[in-house]
Amino acid sequence: MALPLFLPCAAGVESLLADEVKRVLPDVPVNAARGGVSLEGGPADVMVLNLECRLPQRVLIEVAEGAYRDDNDLYELARSVDWSQWITPQHTLRVDTTAQRSPLKSLNFAALRIKDGVCDTMRDAFGERPSVDVRQPDLPLMLHVGPERASLYIDSSGEPLFKRGWREDKGDAPLKETLAAAMLAAAGWRGTPDAGGALHDPCCGSGTIAIEAAQIACGIAPGLKRRFAFERLLPFADAEMRAQWQRLKSHATSRVHASAVTIVASDVSFRMVDFARRNAQRAGVEAAISFHGGDALERPAPVLPPELPGTLMMNPPYGERIEVGGKAARPSAEDRETPDDFFPRLATHWKRAYTQHPAGWTAYVLSPDMKLPGLMRLKESRRVPMWNGPIECRLFRFDLVSGPMR
Ligand SMILES: C[S@@+](CC[C@H](N)C(=O)[O-])C[C@H]1O[C@@H](n2cnc3c(N)ncnc32)[C@H](O)[C@@H]1O
Repeated sequence: MALPLFLPCAAGVESLLADEVKRVLPDVPVNAARGGVSLEGGPADVMVLNLECRLPQRVLIEVAEGAYRDDNDLYELARSVDWSQWITPQHTLRVDTTAQRSPLKSLNFAALRIKDGVCDTMRDAFGERPSVDVRQPDLPLMLHVGPERASLYIDSSGEPLFKRGWREDKGDAPLKETLAAAMLAAAGWRGTPDAGGALHDPCCGSGTIAIEAAQIACGIAPGLKRRFAFERLLPFADAEMRAQWQRLKSHATSRVHASAVTIVASDVSFRMVDFARRNAQRAGVEAAISFHGGDALERPAPVLPPELPGTLMMNPPYGERIEVGGKAARPSAEDRETPDDFFPRLATHWKRAYTQHPAGWTAYVLSPDMKLPGLMRLKESRRVPMWNGPIECRLFRFDLVSGPMR
């Protein structure tokens, strides 16, 4: 059974996700589309994608697609699916909707019509209908309505994939795990000496970048620590599919190895370092990361073997969401309008501390401030558009080499 699959991702991440899916399923043709990638796949592919992919938000299975003009057309769309292949009347469901230039007046009503279509189909088949569970449904459905066409998907992931199952300590402005993974992918960082080398996040917060990096460096599949909605659906529930799922997880577990590169996480807030360490412990990578407290403006560069390059990667405080601490902290509330000297001082520190290493350091900074390179008096060698939730950002790359850097 090959079905159309769609893996949505943050805008700007599509081509990185297409590369990731090609690595995970080398024999399957993959198309990068706006907002995600599409491919054809069976239940085994759905399991592999959920287990192994770091960049998608979910793995969606398209079960119906068609033109629509009103809610009745959506009801018929839901009626066109043989739901008895997916669920029993004892399963629960929930319908979420997304819309782009849809003529519909109420998306809630559209979701209700889809739910009616599923329940009526099940009642015709079994004389009983499934019920709704908005919190932990067995069958999470997603309806996407465009200007003229609608697509109905089963969300095989359930909880979005950025929830890897290890985060309990959040901090103030944590990055989504999928975005941290996108930053690493955009940098070509793959946790080996010749693909990015060592990694240091000097403003690590709850540790997302370092933990994602350490899982990559240790070969830990991102989905190993969590459950997925597909595990409760009929095509995945027979003994053969359950055994296959166990084999996939055992195989992923057998691939886990020690990191070949140094990974360092530090933050001016000791409370954050503690959060990061506890998260890393749950993610199975505490031993792969060295944690330190300390001001990013003063911390010496990690000492590396001369031939090992280093990657600095950070999601610094933005001001709107989180304040700068340490040496550049603003002394009082009245000072909030004072231009920040954190970034120029950070650049000065990098020039002093990170340019002497023979194999070189490359810095990546995720920021919504398009003028950041000017502020740091550094010339970026690349800027990659990325969205941190609703905030449009750039991932700036700075090559830290000795001598004048402009
Ligand atoms: C936007 S948060 C980083 C969030 C992190 N990427 C995560 O996923 O949790 C910025 C972090 O920078 C830290 N910070 C602020 N000023 C700092 C400084 N001078 N040196 C080091 N860290 C600093 C804050 O404590 C905060 O944890």
